[in-house]
Amino acid sequence: MSHEPVVAIVGVTGAVGAEFIATMDKRNFHVGKLKALASARSAGRSIDFRGQKVLIEELTPHSFHGVDIALFSAGSGISKKYAPIAVKSGAVVVDNSSAFRMDPDVPLVIPEINANRIRDHKGIIANPNCSAITALVPLAPIHRQNRIRRVILSTYQAASGAGAAAMEELVESTRAHLDGRPFTPKVIPLPYAFNVFSHNTAIDPETGYNDEETKVINESRKILEDDDIAIGVTCVRVPVLRAHCEAITFECEKPITEDEVRAILSKAPGVRIVDDRAKNYFPMPIDASGQDDVLVGRIRRDLSDSSGHSISMFVSADQLLKGAALNAVQIAELLPQRAMA
Ligand code: A2P
Repeated sequence: MSHEPVVAIVGVTGAVGAEFIATMDKRNFHVGKLKALASARSAGRSIDFRGQKVLIEELTPHSFHGVDIALFSAGSGISKKYAPIAVKSGAVVVDNSSAFRMDPDVPLVIPEINANRIRDHKGIIANPNCSAITALVPLAPIHRQNRIRRVILSTYQAASGAGAAAMEELVESTRAHLDGRPFTPKVIPLPYAFNVFSHNTAIDPETGYNDEETKVINESRKILEDDDIAIGVTCVRVPVLRAHCEAITFECEKPITEDEVRAILSKAPGVRIVDDRAKNYFPMPIDASGQDDVLVGRIRRDLSDSSGHSISMFVSADQLLKGAALNAVQIAELLPQRAMA
């Protein structure tokens, strides 16, 4: 490819779609032409990209003619239907949905961890689940030095993971609650304002795990290339607009100290340590929102493991950026065709 790439964004009007645009702009991602794709509902409107108005077009099977890179974030049904069409048309797809993540032919990539897998792609590269990304950016460099054999993690997930409409619903239901008005939810079928609830994905009646938890377990194993790592997860939605948090405890094969963890994380790409015990200041969604790093703090020995193999910590990362758009754009930056452009 000798020209600047033609880039399509599928789901351009969504919460992640907007961050694709902002992230490409911020990182000076080369774009010859932008194709802004969404549903028929949005067709005819326009978005701003680098000072230009770009017309939003309805996604159709013909949308990918001449497209080099297609960033998808319109849900897994749309990805399943249209990503293979985009690949057939000659595009490389970076897909933010769960549609292809566990397909053995599809690399599942967090560039800080396994950028080398990008070269294996056959047209589609999958962006991992946001909770998996948030946990693995700090866990992978530790795992590399002292294998993690077991992880227990609990998430505190923001509305952004359920899309722009869920974010709006959190704001509107909070306003209604404060005004003492009744509110009928349309997106999240549970009271969201001033409430906390188990993640709103389907529960497997046999295991009791919801889809989000299963994704974290399976995707973590695939990304770390370690099928034996034991992972227990509880995924919970909290009334925060964007940026997820996670309480993580992990047990390593060899003894490990909190100073060793700090030393590893202080050099880890994509990690920023926020761990001020004197001021009781640790990772918070409000600080993680709008920035690229996974914030890590509360790094301490897990007192329930007297053998000294276990550490607990608390992390926060912007679900829309490192958990979605930023990770996808980082993948697109590493595509060989771009290096030739
Ligand atoms: P639209 O705004 O036209 O409905 P979010 O994840 O924030 O909910 O955003 C979902 C994105 O997926 C939006 O950009 C939405 O576009 C897009 N989308 C939903 N359904 C379709 C569809 N059938 N074809 C194309 N894009 C769709």
